Amino acid sequence: MFASRTNWRLETNRLTRALDAYRKSGKELFDLTASNPTDCGLAYPREEILAALANPRALEYRPESKGLREAREAVAEYYRGRQGFSGTAAEVDPERILLASGTSEAYSHIFRLVCEPGDEILVPAPSYPLFEFLADLADVRLISYPLLYDHGWQMDFTSLREALTPRSRAVLVVHPNNPTGSFVKPAEAAELAEMCAAREMAIVADEVFLDYAAGAEPARTFAFHDRALTFALSGLSKISLLPQMKLAWTIVSGPETLARAAVDRLEIIADTYLSPSTPVQLALPKFLALRHGLQAQLQQRITANLSILDGMLRESKCLSRLDHEGGWYAILRAPATGTDEDLAVALVERAGVFVHPGHFFNFSRDGFLVVSLITSEIEFQEGVKRLRRYFDP
Ligand SMILES: Cc1ncc(COP(=O)(O)O)c(C=O)c1O
Repeated sequence: MFASRTNWRLETNRLTRALDAYRKSGKELFDLTASNPTDCGLAYPREEILAALANPRALEYRPESKGLREAREAVAEYYRGRQGFSGTAAEVDPERILLASGTSEAYSHIFRLVCEPGDEILVPAPSYPLFEFLADLADVRLISYPLLYDHGWQMDFTSLREALTPRSRAVLVVHPNNPTGSFVKPAEAAELAEMCAAREMAIVADEVFLDYAAGAEPARTFAFHDRALTFALSGLSKISLLPQMKLAWTIVSGPETLARAAVDRLEIIADTYLSPSTPVQLALPKFLALRHGLQAQLQQRITANLSILDGMLRESKCLSRLDHEGGWYAILRAPATGTDEDLAVALVERAGVFVHPGHFFNFSRDGFLVVSLITSEIEFQEGVKRLRRYFDP
């Protein structure tokens, strides 16, 4: 009855079963995997958010295939004054922006634009697990290329080049990456652009966490690339901490003729669905304006949790933290005495702490755990204390 692309393993995994059993036992669980910002105790400006959705023009239907022009202008404004990796443009042309209902949808449209069935997209490992489903649904093959950890995370260009085949259509980067938090460095971006331009491949740059840099320097963006065809993706879910509003965007840049042709084709795909809702598009300028206060709250939380973590790990013989350049997560190195799934299950059952095992994000080895830094400080502190006690009894 069903297409083979939907032959996913549907049974629940061991970790989920352990979590269900633990919760049923009624004992308190310290969840260090929080990723929903609306559930983390932040002070949202509720009235302003709701007022922005009450625009009387939301009663009319005047769709534009790329998204309402005023919403795209607000997105262009978000990039004003930012530094790119290459190209002299200091601003984004709203005509090069296409809105979507989420970055997942934007990815799907780009995969359909550049790939025949069976073509390949190169994705970093470790990284965000949703790509596998997006690729299945677009009949695309994902080929991993490694990020290496050696005094910080780096792209392994030797392995990346070895992974290329005549069917490679695009290289995906997550900037900064989820969960490693590592940014693409300027020299890496230049090498990537050279490689992609020479082999007629596109760059797909997921920048949803761009504003969460740990250092003082604002991060560079892929939105102004001129060397290779580039799709820079971002959206409200992380930038304005409003995932429920379901609005994201793609910015197309690169050599002029290629970029224009890509926009024209993407516009037809977008016009086929017209998915972003009018009230949310009309509210987008306000939602972007509200990001400063919300990001400041979250960045404060991230900094506080990092300092709690470092305080707790200072004396630990078994646990350490990898470098953190940005994003919402910290990576812990733990003894690889078993699989990291065994470890995550044992942590739930014996310590009452829920952390993500590294394999969930395609770490190539056992011994890595991922903790969310946006968890409320009280829960984070107790969760890390329990982690520490488990490893250093
Ligand atoms: C790297 C990355 N990209 C995209 C998303 C999802 O974004 P959206 O809500 O716009 O689909 C996430 C969500 O966690 C993510 O981690």
